[in-house]
Amino acid sequence: MTPGGIAELAIRILFFFLAAIVVNRFAVENRRQTQRYQMVAEELAETNIRLEHAQAEARRSERLAALGQLSAGLAHEIRNPLGIIKGSAEMLTERVKNSEPLAGELAGYIVAEVNRLSALVTQFLDFARPLHLELKSAVLPEIVDRALRAVEANWSGAPVNVERHYDGDLPPVCLNDNFCEQIFVNLAQNAYEAMSDQGGGTLRVSIARAERDARPGIEVRVADSGPGISAELREPIFNPFVTTKKTGVGLGLSIVSRIVDEHHGSIGLARGGGRGTCFVVFFPAAAATASATRSASRTHTLSVIP
Ligand SMILES: Nc1ncnc2c1ncn2[C@@H]1O[C@H](COP(=O)(O)OP(=O)(O)O)[C@@H](O)[C@H]1O
Ligand SMILES: [Mg+2]
Repeated sequence: MTPGGIAELAIRILFFFLAAIVVNRFAVENRRQTQRYQMVAEELAETNIRLEHAQAEARRSERLAALGQLSAGLAHEIRNPLGIIKGSAEMLTERVKNSEPLAGELAGYIVAEVNRLSALVTQFLDFARPLHLELKSAVLPEIVDRALRAVEANWSGAPVNVERHYDGDLPPVCLNDNFCEQIFVNLAQNAYEAMSDQGGGTLRVSIARAERDARPGIEVRVADSGPGISAELREPIFNPFVTTKKTGVGLGLSIVSRIVDEHHGSIGLARGGGRGTCFVVFFPAAAATASATRSASRTHTLSVIP
């Protein structure tokens, strides 16, 4: 081979080498670009799913608001005639209970059933009423205690042993006394009812300092030794009209969840390790509540808390 031929061969080799490098760079860049597109597509798909969830949530809220208005109107209209029926039945019971015992007994049933209906209507109204709670600095353990005493005093079923574990060093929180008490009345009442079928049990209530989503606050755990909540009921449990009780209305926990939202807090079920049920309610500390109110952000109702 002549020196000219060698030089040409070397140039060719160099040319192919350079061409290979350039092609390789293109290929690598292309692969990187494809990966980037893939990631963007995945992010988009995720965002889409989140958007769909948000839309479903908004539709659910709209439906609930409409249902709330309807039930409020209906409940209000039902209340007045109920009062008259109750008053008349009570008078009737008084009049006939000595002369006609059977009629007296039947009139007594009317009074009892009217009382039940009244309680139902009151729950409907609680559920439907728009809540704009005034929050002020309050002592949470006192409110929880009041609720526990109220449920205990009205309970006539199987015996329940109540254990209290309250931490001393709690941050200040802003609450609405009455509505906050209602949260714990509902949770305790459910716990008493759940345990009564198995002849009673233990209700363990603990209050401690906690942090959720980097917000400091107070966590209240209401744990019972009852039968627990089945896996399929855990998700819809805070929805209205979800009940497993013969005479239940299924509004207790949805009212609780609304009140907790109004406190910029969160409620959820602790992941069940052992037996029983444990509801966890979180209230943000006073400073966190103020900033949440300023930004008008609503917190989510957690369905699962570790
Ligand atoms: N502590 C608990 N243990 C077991 N099941 C519970 C407990 N709390 C609530 N539940 C379940 O959640 C359902 C909904 O409760 P709630 O909204 O208070 O309505 P209601 O008490 O009228 O049924 C109950 O019917 C019950 O099945
Ligand atoms: Mg209930």
